[in-house]
Amino acid sequence: VPQNKLTPVTPALWSSRFVFIMAAVGSAVGLGNIWKFPYITGENGGGAFVLVYLVCIAIIGLPLMMSEVMLGRRGAKSPIGSMAVVAKAEGRSPHWVGVGIMATLAAFLILSFYSVIAGWTMPYIVSAVSGQFSGISAQSTGALFEDLLASPWQLLMWHSLFMGLTILVSAGGVRHGLENAVTKLMPALFVLLLILVGYAATTGHFGEAVSFLFKPNFSALTAESILVALGHAFFTLSLASGAMMAYGAYLPKNVSIARTAVVVGVMDTCVALLAGLAIFPIVFAHGLAAGEGPGLIFVTLPVAFGQMPGGSFFATLFFVLLLFAAWTSSISMLESLVSYLNEKGISRVTAAIGGGLAAWLVGITTLLSLNVWSDFTPLDMFARFEGKTLFDLYDYLTANIMMPVVALLIALFVGWKVNPEHSKAELGAWHKVWFPVIRYLSPIALLIVFYFNLK
Ligand code: PFF
Ligand code: NA
Repeated sequence: VPQNKLTPVTPALWSSRFVFIMAAVGSAVGLGNIWKFPYITGENGGGAFVLVYLVCIAIIGLPLMMSEVMLGRRGAKSPIGSMAVVAKAEGRSPHWVGVGIMATLAAFLILSFYSVIAGWTMPYIVSAVSGQFSGISAQSTGALFEDLLASPWQLLMWHSLFMGLTILVSAGGVRHGLENAVTKLMPALFVLLLILVGYAATTGHFGEAVSFLFKPNFSALTAESILVALGHAFFTLSLASGAMMAYGAYLPKNVSIARTAVVVGVMDTCVALLAGLAIFPIVFAHGLAAGEGPGLIFVTLPVAFGQMPGGSFFATLFFVLLLFAAWTSSISMLESLVSYLNEKGISRVTAAIGGGLAAWLVGITTLLSLNVWSDFTPLDMFARFEGKTLFDLYDYLTANIMMPVVALLIALFVGWKVNPEHSKAELGAWHKVWFPVIRYLSPIALLIVFYFNLK
């Protein structure tokens, strides 16, 4: 077991494949699955989008996850440090370190707005506990959500609290918090989603939801929505942001990277699809808009909770588990930066507080873009960014630009710059399949998506 005394959250934990899988699943499963996947699926027309997303996971996401875990394990450092170490060992340009820098920057930016959204779960826990959802109408849940977004001080309070929780674990204060959260709470979240899907099946609109999600209507598909599906494949698997590289650095040598990546990818995908199956029947049963946007789960799920027996209990449990899922993801986002600063001689506590506070500050601009700055759309002069608030821009910049670029560079690096004998030593028998995919298929697919989006 590799020991790294500078990283208190991790070394004791990554003692087995199981623990690594749990940490990686904790990073992967989060708001991306339950909040983002349903709403972007709704905005992008359903079935065809879901299909493209699944293809992106299979031919780009999974091979990339294997690549990142491999780079992390070989470099055994922060994402920035590992890129430097491996590039040097392979006799390549030191500029490859830029990939690690861009990934770390993407993780930082994502953390800044992720914390704001994760903060939303907390007032929903309060409402759920106090029975506020019982018998609530779709109109009232819509109003409740709007009230929350309209209140910068409330948002600031929850955002601050969530970032504080993230810093706490990252700084190493809650040594086994991560393991407990992922080994007990993730399975609970999974079971709860199954219960919700079961409830959704009783609404009479389940079939409609299934065909919305799985019957591809390719006329709804645009070049832009393909890019959104691609970006989401990275976001949901915590790729192109250093998280999987950082966690890979603590993975024992005898663990199969490829099998582990497949398990993580499958679990993440199942959670997203279950979330879709739980939410869309409710959307259709209540005549809500599938393209409602970021508020989708916050407007629809409380209606369902309000009608089911034991609803207040299930609602509380759901938002608590969602909070934990977001928490284990945000910790991994901060890890890219903290592990780097730590290598530079800054203590983990200082690095976690400094990095977390900086992300918290940037997060305030996201929070304000939901209310007082909602008309501030600074990049209107570019058609691509027209009407986008700061929050929209951070989301677009990370998922649709930075992550695909980082992904392409990593694919090119491991596919063309790393000696195949070396990657074979890391990946074993799986190398046969992985290598041609990451060398040809993934970069070509990425370039095609870029081409049609820049055209
Ligand atoms: N994978 C997380 C989710 O689906 O919510 C989000 C995420 C975590 C993105 C870690 C990037 C990252 F580095
Ligand atoms: Na995810």
